[in-house]
Amino acid sequence: MVRRTEWLFTWFVNNIYIILYSLREFLNLLLKKNLKLKHFKTSMPKTILVTGGAGFIGSNLCEFLLEKESAKIICLDNFFTGKKENIASLLKNQNFVFVEKDIVDPILFDEKIDQIYNLACPASPIHYQANPIRTIKINTIGVINTLGLAKKHNARILQSSTSEIYGDPLVHPQTEDYKGNVNPIGPRACYDEGKRIAESLFFEYHRNHKLDIRVARIFNTYGPKMAKNDGRVVSNFILQAINNDDITIYGDGKQTRSFCYISDMVEGLYRLMNQDYVGPINLGNPEELTILQIAEKILELTESKSKLIFKDIPQDDPHRRKPDITLAKNKLNWQPVIPLNDGLIKTIESFKSVLS
Ligand SMILES: NC(=O)c1ccc[n+]([C@@H]2O[C@H](COP(=O)([O-])OP(=O)(O)OC[C@H]3O[C@@H](n4cnc5c(N)ncnc54)[C@H](O)[C@@H]3O)[C@@H](O)[C@H]2O)c1
Repeated sequence: MVRRTEWLFTWFVNNIYIILYSLREFLNLLLKKNLKLKHFKTSMPKTILVTGGAGFIGSNLCEFLLEKESAKIICLDNFFTGKKENIASLLKNQNFVFVEKDIVDPILFDEKIDQIYNLACPASPIHYQANPIRTIKINTIGVINTLGLAKKHNARILQSSTSEIYGDPLVHPQTEDYKGNVNPIGPRACYDEGKRIAESLFFEYHRNHKLDIRVARIFNTYGPKMAKNDGRVVSNFILQAINNDDITIYGDGKQTRSFCYISDMVEGLYRLMNQDYVGPINLGNPEELTILQIAEKILELTESKSKLIFKDIPQDDPHRRKPDITLAKNKLNWQPVIPLNDGLIKTIESFKSVLS
């Protein structure tokens, strides 16, 4: 036994260099393999799904993502308010795929989805009030279908919530901890309450299924690719001004709004998706103007001869709107950078070129 140990010891000492060399090579190999695996993981192209991707914000977001990410972008839409023209130029990009589908129907994808931006929902009162029960279905059944898809793929999912969840706010400016002042039975409830239950669903999936969620509360946004006929303030005023038609002001025009240019909004959504903060988080421009001031600015920029006319204010129309964006500044290092004047000029140009 003693001789055997002696022999082993002598063998070990004689071969110590070979042993150490082999050990080093083995460790190197392990390290390389690991590095290669890591590299493989990070360089695998992502697949990002944008529901409502043919709409105003969605199509601008798809365009942004195609430039920013080397990812495959799947745009899903049922063309309820979205338009083929919004995504026509994107279809030439081989990383862009369009799927015509309704989120109220079951959604299945064989390929792995990594991130989902859920934007599918009509956003203007004319459209969401056209079929209010359908709007509620989109924000309940549709949202459950989209969350189910995220759960199946273990994907991160971002909800496009809205400042409308604050209703006609009694707190000004609106912070994320304000619970809101919403009429649950009024004509706007299908959207406002719909978006509120959608937020609840997101947080229940987060708590119960550990789903990786993000919730953005989007305030009024404007810019190129807005629909021309959906009655939203900026697009309405620009169209009326370009055509020298009367500009319709609902109420006395002293109610306020805050307008965020689309490129700022898309950047905010992207930052939220790719950082750790779950939300809810306000995204919007805190510069507050009365509806009258906006109308006058657009008249000046278009050099229009239109006159202002006043009509009855719709039921439950909010009196004041202004986001507190402290949280977005702190958590996402984000704030809007496009001044209203510049954004309006770009939007007016895009409307003029589409009309001509
Ligand atoms: N634009 C804003 O100022 C604003 C403000 C707050 C919140 N949001 C939210 O952002 C999202 C996008 O708004 P937007 O201004 O681009 O509106 P939009 O109407 O231009 O876009 C919505 C898109 O969703 C699609 N869609 C609607 N129902 C669908 C369904 N059942 N299945 C699949 N697709 C469907 C529409 O065809 C359209 O392309 C909406 O969820 C909206 O609530 C927008």
